[in-house]
Amino acid sequence: MHFLRTLSTLVLGLSSLVSAATYTNPIKAKDGSDPHIVYTAGYYYLMASLPEANTTTWTSLQITRATTINGLKSGETKVVYTQSSGSRSGNIWAPELHYLDNAWYIYFTAGDGKDLGTQRPHVLKGGASPWDSFSFLSTLSSAWGIDGTILRFSSWGNYFVYSCFLNGSPQSLCISKLNSPGSIGSPKLLSQPTLSWETVRNPVNEGPAAMYHGGKTYLTYSASDCWTTSYSLGLLTWNGSGDPSLAASWSKSGPLLTSANGNYGTGHNGFFQSPDGTEIWNVYHATANSAGACDGNRYTMVNKVNWNSNGTPNLGTPAKLGTSFTGPSGE
Ligand SMILES: *[C@@H]1O[C@H](CO)[C@@H](O)[C@H](O)[C@H]1NC(C)=O
Ligand SMILES: *[C@@H]1O[C@H](CO)[C@@H](O)[C@H](O)[C@H]1NC(C)=O
Repeated sequence: MHFLRTLSTLVLGLSSLVSAATYTNPIKAKDGSDPHIVYTAGYYYLMASLPEANTTTWTSLQITRATTINGLKSGETKVVYTQSSGSRSGNIWAPELHYLDNAWYIYFTAGDGKDLGTQRPHVLKGGASPWDSFSFLSTLSSAWGIDGTILRFSSWGNYFVYSCFLNGSPQSLCISKLNSPGSIGSPKLLSQPTLSWETVRNPVNEGPAAMYHGGKTYLTYSASDCWTTSYSLGLLTWNGSGDPSLAASWSKSGPLLTSANGNYGTGHNGFFQSPDGTEIWNVYHATANSAGACDGNRYTMVNKVNWNSNGTPNLGTPAKLGTSFTGPSGE
């Protein structure tokens, strides 16, 4: 009896060793800014803003895939988009994979590579797997816009949320109806940077990311100038009944992820599910530069989302690089 219990404890211990994959941050030590991850059909797919070798502008889109989070450090990588010239050939930022109407799409930002005023949101259309090839579908807005993401409601349909200037606003979040994967309706202002932690060096709201949990719809976003250590995540919470394209239907709180333990300017995140679908994980970037930096030295961090007793998300405190964590459930 005692022997059997010891044996079963040993077996349980071994099986948890086998099933609990561990990982350490950073997941991408360089060129890891504006990261986004999805998990589907056995693979994690990671994208980030990626300067090409020996250039200072961001000139291509790449996807890296692996079966574990730690595996992304040396995962299979391929270029899915590049242009040698033209209106969407440079400063290619903030790519995100989204599945809509039975296909994968990549929403990203690009301009002519010379003038940041030419930055626009664009979309590529792919196939049934994120590993299929992609082709250009459309430019979503004729006005300046960056960092687009998809926000979904069962009762209201899908929206495109991005960073914009509208009617004389500072750099804010705009929301538009997603009429189809390649076309959006006219924008409305969803959130403007007004609070002290949203206006350091420059007033900025950008990098929105949707999250759904416990019947609630959340939207995180990045606040303040990305060249400062105050770049951090804010939270918008939908009130559950009002028109989601109206700012009045959302309440703002934050900051909920800030610089710590040698990681500065923690922001521009995305959310993804664990392989077994039971957990939500946060992927974001930070820099080791204690003055703050908005360049290719930013690295990609991954941490599990926890929940406060009142049901709100707890994104935790970024740990020192190299700290070991248990990977997402089901790896
Ligand atoms: C980038 O520069 C390094 C050092 O100057 C050089 O060795 C390397 O071949 C260059 N890479 C590309 C892709 O041009
Ligand atoms: C949600 O926001 C709308 C404004 O868009 C308001 O009319 C409505 O009363 C709010 N509902 C709740 C439950 O707070």
